[in-house]
Amino acid sequence: MSILPIVTYNDPVLRKKAEPVKENSEQLQNLIDAMFDTMYNSQGVGLAAPQIGQSLQIFVTDPDAITEEDEPSVGPLVFINPEIISKTGENLKMEEGCLSIPEVRDDVVRPEKVIIRYLNRNFEEEELEADGWMARVIQHEYDHLQGILFLDHLSAFKRRLHRSRLKKIESGSIETEYPLVPKKAGQEK
Ligand code: NI
Repeated sequence: MSILPIVTYNDPVLRKKAEPVKENSEQLQNLIDAMFDTMYNSQGVGLAAPQIGQSLQIFVTDPDAITEEDEPSVGPLVFINPEIISKTGENLKMEEGCLSIPEVRDDVVRPEKVIIRYLNRNFEEEELEADGWMARVIQHEYDHLQGILFLDHLSAFKRRLHRSRLKKIESGSIETEYPLVPKKAGQEK
């Protein structure tokens, strides 16, 4: 088990477009294992590499914990250098949270269905059509690779409602059940 600390709101790595992964390696496989360990330890259903401070186009998911009874089990998946190639269906409102923004949750409107093309952990190209929770998790994690947070989808008014909590996260004065990257002096504001 290798549990990595999670980077929180206002860290610049969460705002960068992540770099494509160039090749498979033992180091990459270890990183993927550590991402799963970290995600399960924090009871997350998705985790993107920037959230552990690595600006790389990788995210992992396992939405089974929140999958509705009528939805098929998806299990753990790895998405390397992903590209969402279509978004269809109705725009749906669903509540989201993020391990990098502890205890902030809000409704986000996103398309119902996506098709995503990516490399799996063996570097084989795959395409997945997803709806329901899986489509939601994919879009949230994919955003992380573009430097986008779910808060960016909220209205300015809604964002303001979270301001005091966000300030606390920025200053590092929060407690979580999982390890966070400590805030450096001077990074606080
Ligand atoms: Ni997130």
